[in-house]
Amino acid sequence: MEDAIREFTSGQDEIFRVVLSLPDRGTDVPARFLLEKVQGKEGDFWQSEQTEKAKVIRKTVPDPAAFLRENAPLYRQTDLFSPGVQVSYRRSKKGKVTRLVNQSSAARARGAHDREKAALIREGDRAPFLVDLGIFTKEYKVVRSMNDKFRQINRYLELLDDALKHFPKEEISILDFGCGKSYLTFLVYYYFSVLKKKRVTVLGYDLKEDVVARCNELAKAYGYHGMEFIVADVSRDVLTDRPVDLVITLHACDTATDYALFYAMKREIPYLFSVPCCQHEVNRTIQRGGGDLDLLLGHGLFKERTSALLTDAFRARILESRGYRVDVLEFVDFSHSPKNLMLRAKKTGKGGALPAELFELERRYGFRQTLLHLMEEEYGTKRGT
Ligand SMILES: C[S@@+](CC[C@H](N)C(=O)[O-])C[C@H]1O[C@@H](n2cnc3c(N)ncnc32)[C@H](O)[C@@H]1O
Repeated sequence: MEDAIREFTSGQDEIFRVVLSLPDRGTDVPARFLLEKVQGKEGDFWQSEQTEKAKVIRKTVPDPAAFLRENAPLYRQTDLFSPGVQVSYRRSKKGKVTRLVNQSSAARARGAHDREKAALIREGDRAPFLVDLGIFTKEYKVVRSMNDKFRQINRYLELLDDALKHFPKEEISILDFGCGKSYLTFLVYYYFSVLKKKRVTVLGYDLKEDVVARCNELAKAYGYHGMEFIVADVSRDVLTDRPVDLVITLHACDTATDYALFYAMKREIPYLFSVPCCQHEVNRTIQRGGGDLDLLLGHGLFKERTSALLTDAFRARILESRGYRVDVLEFVDFSHSPKNLMLRAKKTGKGGALPAELFELERRYGFRQTLLHLMEEEYGTKRGT
């Protein structure tokens, strides 16, 4: 569980609860140990909680990392809770440790509470682009019909903030694929330049000339000199070769997401945040192949959802194979957008071979997934780098 302890130590500001469970056989420890950040009069402190003979025992823990170093190795599962996200480390009986990221209802409830406290952009904030883009009224109130969009971009920003609030450089360079009206693009620019006081360059690509022209007008009107919008088909056109720190996509249609991911991997861009959109490609071609997936391909709705999940699972697996650490997050509640899955990736290692099982799945079920083939053309199937 060294990774869990390392993750706890590096994210201690965000993490508010740790649960140890599934003790190893033969160890004389409580079945479940809870470590929780508690608000005291003189600031936050950590407290452990265990139950012995139906009695709850709580103790102050002055050094939570040392507590975990001592106790976590005795348990097979360690759960780390931070606002909206639960990360679980589980050790199998053979000693293999897996890391899973999820949004538990408990984490989500606590996360919603914390988010309210710490919302980065709130109704009433004088962000002029939100008025011009139709999200705020002139009185800086959220336009009712834009409530879902406002939640989406705010949540996106929170997830960016979780990962990048301590971004070490004075400058940051960002690329948005399929930026459309650029609600998110402007918000991200505002976050880094106004709130984080960085020198920011943002480039937004989109197919639509009129939308791109309008975004350039707005950027000029606000004096956002680092912003530029370009008409481009990201699947065909030559894209920038300037240094980029972060690639973002929000609902870039169908395979446009694949081109963004391909670009990020090829250029070894350190951070990638992608909320995919309609994953039509696989759905159009997938068919029964005589294997376990057949059960999920009989009804139209199952087939559509299976295709969407397969597409994003392919993307996550390919990113991992190229040395990215990937978190798959539920980005907003399904009721706000059914396209609510985010792939959050950070380059942490070297690239390796493309996973053979993906080619096998494609072959067996007769579909094609663009990212896999872009990568195959670029790197071949045997080795990466
Ligand atoms: C659903 S909109 C999302 C816009 C924006 N990111 C947002 O969330 O508000 C998808 C955008 O992707 C753009 N798009 C789709 N395929 C593209 C491609 N191949 N190259 C560039 N832009 C593309 C569309 O023109 C559209 O504006």
